[in-house]
Amino acid sequence: MPPKPGRLDFCKATEACEVWLLHLPHHFNPSPLILTMDFYDVIDKRRSVRAFQDKPVDAKVLRKILDTVSLAPSAGNLQAYKITIVRKQELKEGLMSAAFDQESIINAPVVLVFSADEKRSETKYGDRGLEFYSLQDATIAAAYCQLVAAAEGLGSVWVGGFDALEVSRLINAESYEVPVAIIPLGYPAENPGRRERRHLKELVREM
Ligand SMILES: Cc1cc2nc3c(=O)[nH]c(=O)nc-3n(C[C@H](O)[C@H](O)[C@H](O)COP(=O)(O)O)c2cc1C
Repeated sequence: MPPKPGRLDFCKATEACEVWLLHLPHHFNPSPLILTMDFYDVIDKRRSVRAFQDKPVDAKVLRKILDTVSLAPSAGNLQAYKITIVRKQELKEGLMSAAFDQESIINAPVVLVFSADEKRSETKYGDRGLEFYSLQDATIAAAYCQLVAAAEGLGSVWVGGFDALEVSRLINAESYEVPVAIIPLGYPAENPGRRERRHLKELVREM
């Protein structure tokens, strides 16, 4: 039987190495550079994580997340969003306060703020770009971020409840940048169970 596609993601692995890796137990992951999680495992394992270990996120891992996020689709390939990386404790405290004291923000070693760049999208698409596409570009990028973070063994949560004007002020956003999501990121200190989903028949309409 050929291996399940995507189960092992080899980085220029030799054939011998491939055979060796195939015989490792499923949970054995010696290096995230050699083995990565199957796409469906990532989707299945991701949870909103709001408590984090006191362990920094390596700059290389963060870079990998940002590089991968930049591959997300965007309207006209404009990538009409801005990502603000926040590590300073004082700024995290400000963001937490702007997010109605949600502690996940202060708990995390790194916090990413995804903002829509309305001007960039408006230039090409007018009102549709300003009101809609820039928001979608930022949203898709933030969603990618949560999935790549999960693939890298990190936890994250989408914080959408915040005072947007106050967040803009804190991150020195331009007037045309609109904060869409605050994503606290770090190694999980909790293991939440899966939250129930609506039945597909409520979500899907067939015609
Ligand atoms: C648009 C949006 C806004 C959200 N806002 C918050 C928030 O302000 N605070 C929070 O703790 N979680 C927030 N969440 C996370 C959801 O509560 C969470 O995704 C949902 O309960 C499903 O749980 P799961 O992510 O573990 O599958 C938000 C998620 C989305 C997509």
